[in-house]
Amino acid sequence: MAYNLLKGKKGIIFGALDNKSIAWKIAERAYDEGAVFTVSNTPTALRFGELDELAAKCNATIIPADATSMADLTNVFETSMDVLGGKVDFVLHSIGMSLNVRKKKVYNDLNHDFYAKTMDISAVSFHKMLQVASKMDAINDWGSVLAISYIAAQRTLYGYNDMADAKALLESIARSFGYIYGREKKIRVNTISQSPTPTTAGSGVKGFTGLMDFTERMSPLGNATADECADYCITLFSDLTRKVTMQNLFHDGGFSSMGMSLKAMEMYNRSITCNCEDNMGFSIED
Ligand SMILES: NC(=O)c1ccc[n+]([C@@H]2O[C@H](COP(=O)([O-])OP(=O)(O)OC[C@H]3O[C@@H](n4cnc5c(N)ncnc54)[C@H](O)[C@@H]3O)[C@@H](O)[C@H]2O)c1
Repeated sequence: MAYNLLKGKKGIIFGALDNKSIAWKIAERAYDEGAVFTVSNTPTALRFGELDELAAKCNATIIPADATSMADLTNVFETSMDVLGGKVDFVLHSIGMSLNVRKKKVYNDLNHDFYAKTMDISAVSFHKMLQVASKMDAINDWGSVLAISYIAAQRTLYGYNDMADAKALLESIARSFGYIYGREKKIRVNTISQSPTPTTAGSGVKGFTGLMDFTERMSPLGNATADECADYCITLFSDLTRKVTMQNLFHDGGFSSMGMSLKAMEMYNRSITCNCEDNMGFSIED
């Protein structure tokens, strides 16, 4: 159901690759809620992804950009203001990539050139985006900027690798820039910490199927889907959340507040009753 929550609002959406992408779902939902916006991704993603289809569906202009390039980002904001007829009200950063993850380098044997690239693409690009927007005065007062994060910023999760460090930096940038942007322009900056979601980036994480099963069992409300993430993001782009800023907002069915759940305990107990050698010498009653 649509509520016209973004009627009259203009925006920029970075990071929709295909119809599984979180940014794709947010774009569809923003369109349904009455927003007009441009969409951006790298030239490579434009060649191999399906962004044309989304752009046609949402009447959105595509602006190619590598989000690590200040020149490309400047062009995205300039062209968006031209096409949309003025400053924007919301910006979505839904970008992440790690060559260490892709090349299966483990955290204690990283390639540090890849590591710097992970940081640049997945976190520093958010700072670059905010800096370009603020210098160009490209966002209207009371606008809203969001990036998508993950709980590996706070907790260590097997296999998430250097992306954990990128997410910690991403969330810190939201707080540091959020203070300045809020003080000077009443613009809010937040991150949404989303459940594991079966997208191209998500599925690249080591042990992803097991992780999704674990978080599903641990979360009282179950994993949050990409569509549900889109619903939440719409509220944060809307005028209903004008005093929410500098926050990392968990959108994870309750996972972040859990230590152990009945469903996870049952699964764990089942595996230790198999009397495997690794049962630490406890009986399940312990
Ligand atoms: N899928 C999950 O489990 C999950 C969970 C929490 C957070 N997130 C985050 O959500 C965001 C979106 O990822 P997704 O899961 O929708 O996967 P996705 O693969 O659909 O999206 C990642 C996007 O980043 C873009 N990208 C990569 N390098 C770029 C660059 N240099 N410049 C511009 N864009 C670039 C890709 O082209 C792609 O569109 C990422 O920040 C990801 O870390 C994902």
